[in-house]
Parts: sequence; C-alpha cells; structure tokens
Amino acid sequence: MAALASVQIATGAARAAIDPPVALAPMAGITDLPFRRVVAGFGAGLVVSEMVASREMAQAKPSDRARARAELGLHEAATAVQLAGHDPRWMAEAARMVADGGARIIDINMGCPAKKVVGGQSGAALMRDPDHALRMIEAVVAAVDLPVTLKTRLGWDDCCLNAPDLARRAVDAGVGMVTIHGRTRCQFYKGRADWSAIGAVVRAVPGVPVLANGDIRAAGDAAAALAASGAAGVMIGRGAQGRPWLLAQVAAALRDAPVPSAPTGAALVDLVAGHYEAILDFHGRDLGLRVARKHLDWYLTAASGAASLRRPLLTATDPRAVLRLLPEALSPAPPVTEAA
Ligand SMILES: Cc1cc2nc3c(=O)[nH]c(=O)nc-3n(C[C@H](O)[C@H](O)[C@H](O)COP(=O)(O)O)c2cc1C
Repeated sequence: MAALASVQIATGAARAAIDPPVALAPMAGITDLPFRRVVAGFGAGLVVSEMVASREMAQAKPSDRARARAELGLHEAATAVQLAGHDPRWMAEAARMVADGGARIIDINMGCPAKKVVGGQSGAALMRDPDHALRMIEAVVAAVDLPVTLKTRLGWDDCCLNAPDLARRAVDAGVGMVTIHGRTRCQFYKGRADWSAIGAVVRAVPGVPVLANGDIRAAGDAAAALAASGAAGVMIGRGAQGRPWLLAQVAAALRDAPVPSAPTGAALVDLVAGHYEAILDFHGRDLGLRVARKHLDWYLTAASGAASLRRPLLTATDPRAVLRLLPEALSPAPPVTEAA
C-alpha cells in the first residue's frame, strides 16, 4: 500500500491541510479540550470537538457563549468544531460565532443516532430528509469563509443507504471532506462497521477526501479500512480511549515510519496525572471527578493495571488520593501463576 498522503480540504477559497489524515472522532462527553490536547500532543492530523448544539449556542447568554467558545479550544491547532442542529438559521448563526472565535474548520453532524437528537430532526435524522440537510449545509457554507466538512453514516437503515448520494450533493454545495461511520443509524453501535460500503461514498465524490470511521482500534484495522474503502484517511474514536497515543502510532505505521511506543512506567503516570489535573481544572471539581473517572478506567484497562486498586481509584473523591495511587495502579498486573 502507498504511504498515506496528507489531504487538502477546500470549501470555495477556504482551505486546510490534514496531515496526517488520521483524525480523532468527536465523542460527546469524552473529546473535551483536555482530551483533545493530550491526543494532539502525541500527534493527530485533526481533532474534532464534541458536538455543539447550534441553537443553544446561538441563543446562549454572552457570558455562556464565551465559555462555550473557550471550551471549543478554537485557537488550538487542527481542531474542527462540530455543529449539530436542524434549523439552517441557527446552524449559520452558530457557524458565524465559532468562525468569529477563531474556528479553522466546521464539521456538520449528520450521524448522531441518539433518540433525543434524532427526535429533534438533527443528527442522523437528516439522512431521511436530504433536501433539508442540503439547505442546512448551504446555509453553513454561505455563512463562513472556512472549510466545511460533513460526518455521517452509511444511511438510516439497510433499506436507505443514501450516504453516496448525500455526500455527492453535499460536495456540490461546498463540503470539502466527508467522514463516514460505516454503520447505519438503526445499527447504533451494534455489529461491525462495514468499511467496504464506505467505498461507495469514496467513488461518489472523486477528488474529495473521505475519512473511514468505525471500529479502528489498531494500525492493522486502519490499513484494512483504507484498503477496503479506498478512503484518504481514517477517523478513530473509542480506540483512543485510554490510549491517546494510538493516532500517532497508526499514522506512523501507515507511513512506514518507526512506530512510537506507548508510554509506560513513570512516563505513563505523568501523562495520566497531567490529564487528570487538566480535567479537574477545566470542568471544576464536581463534574471533573465524574469525567476523569471514565478516562482513569480506560487508562487502567489499557495498561492492564492493578485490579485491586481499580475500585479505590475510581471511587476516590480526593484528587490527592488519586494521584498517590496512580503509580502502583498503572503498573501492569503480575501474571497469574498456578497455586503450587
Ligand atoms: C460516547 C460517544 C459519543 C459520541 N459523540 C459523537 C458526537 O458528538 N458527534 C459525532 O459525530 N459522533 C459522535 N460519536 C460517534 C463517533 O464519532 C464515531 O463515529 C463512532 O464512535 C465510531 O467510531 P469508533 O468505532 O472509532 O469509536 C460518539 C460516539 C460515542 C461512543
């Protein structure tokens, strides 16, 4: 396979390069600014914000707006801001706001399967109303001088696999890159992502980069997804939980470059402690403890950490206790030996 090339995104005259084309997927409640910073610190061509509800953003009080903008980390390198919504007017208004705040790329969410989102005719529901979806895309493209990208799924269900058609129309309206999660809305997260079905979208939008997404947890998966789909790059979500270095490893492997090792020992403890403290600083103590627990759990799993310390670590309410426990907790569990 040829080494992975960087990709160019263009919407009108607005351009951006994604290099390497290995992106962190938006994940609500997970890809907050502290996590995106950790992932970007190892190396990622692009990180995407959690989805931002366009109407809530556009209607928020100015003080909340400032907070919301800050949370987007708009001045961070290679960050796309993902907007979700239904009304072209609010999508355009929110796009203008994040553009004014320094956003470099705007991504439109047409893949979220959650009942609450779909019930509001947003997210994956837009795949059932492509004419309306197009009006939204056109409104965002007209509102800002930034590259606009689209993230969606294969279709609503197995009877409506309309991603190729939607992607073609989106590109005609100015979308510069399309990411496809290789499942339908009705699959939610069940079954396996169908990487070869993403190929139909790649063929529908020649010359426009497509990122393949879904179930990529290792460099071998990424290579297989690219081979099956012909996509220009990959987007990785859950595989990076507890392994924020994964994207850098995948990118190196796809470029036949030396693959950086995952941090272990003191380097891993420093990384996790730094991420933990950044979460508490960013979200405040109450919410921060809850958010941090998920990440600690994933770090422990990835490190095959000490099982006996999992509970004390995940139930601790005193951050100092967590930081004290980390070195021992993140040491690999000794192999189980047969009793004599
Ligand atoms: C907890 C969670 C939250 C998610 N939030 C979003 C979101 O805000 N916007 C979006 O487009 N996709 C969202 N997704 C979907 C992911 O971006 C991605 O498409 C999906 O997880 C498949 O990729 P993966 O197998 O690499 O995780 C979310 C997924 C999970 C598990």
